[in-house]
Amino acid sequence: MNETRHRVLDALADGPVSGPTLADELDISRSAVWKHVEALRDEGFEIRSDDAGYGLDSVPEFGASAVEYGLDAPFSVEYHDSIPSTNARARDLAADGASDTVVLADEQTGGRGRLDREWHSPSGGIWLSVLFRPDVPMAHAPVFTLAAAVAVTRAAREAGVEAGIKWPNDVLVRHGDEERKLVGILTEMEGEADRVSWVVVGIGVNANVDPADLPDDANPTSLSAERDEPVDRRLFAQRLLEEFDALRQDSANVVEAWREYATTLGKQVRVETPGGSIEGEAVDIQFPGALVIETESGREVVSAGDCEHLRPIAE
Ligand code: BTN
Repeated sequence: MNETRHRVLDALADGPVSGPTLADELDISRSAVWKHVEALRDEGFEIRSDDAGYGLDSVPEFGASAVEYGLDAPFSVEYHDSIPSTNARARDLAADGASDTVVLADEQTGGRGRLDREWHSPSGGIWLSVLFRPDVPMAHAPVFTLAAAVAVTRAAREAGVEAGIKWPNDVLVRHGDEERKLVGILTEMEGEADRVSWVVVGIGVNANVDPADLPDDANPTSLSAERDEPVDRRLFAQRLLEEFDALRQDSANVVEAWREYATTLGKQVRVETPGGSIEGEAVDIQFPGALVIETESGREVVSAGDCEHLRPIAE
């Protein structure tokens, strides 16, 4: 959002302010104040103007300005009602040199998942990609995927949904013996071995969508289905981005935070890796995100793969 508009909103945060006072505080003319107020109204902010001056009545429900307003993290937000893929757009922005940018969409028409799968993204979701340039070697980058999983799990729990994380980055909700997928995360990056150039962490939250509209094979759920009412997508996106921002700067503690929400540890798992299938008990996770599996032939450390939680063998 335009910097002056940010300042207008900040000035209105504590109550109504007169046009001349705003003009003075922002060091712009009264007609410029009026133009910025009109522009904010066009973006969906309800700003009344009466004898007390300008007053902020409401903030738009969702969109770039909605998420930026009151966001306690240094991201600028680009919003699309509909876009093929927020990750693809964030990659283009990376090629143009951007950083600390979030691409957010209500709907994706070509959403991408892990392992080249499609990611169904109907209107009502929170489909977003965070582009940033951390000063770390490429080998450490998987920690940002874990950070995203922790951030979104915390936001879901604050919204009243008891989510947990299946290694490496599926955020799930338990229903008896079954786990239903709430969120998917797809991280892409570029750089040299010793330094990342950019990272795009794509996070797909089934927010206010009907799981019946999502493909069955993923066994999907959504925030609205779990809560029996819609979630405030603006607040959810803000909490998610704030948590992610704090964690990306504290990567040494991400693994510990991840363990707190892990549903994989202590379970029998089968992980399909490029080198074959590994089965055993998941006993730990190591920085920057590798799973330690106790197999019949000893411990294996797996850094990537598709993980399945197996039912314990009945005794
Ligand atoms: C998975 O396969 O579980 C990962 C799914 C990741 C989906 C998100 S939605 C926002 C971003 N844009 C995309 O095209 N994909 C990611």
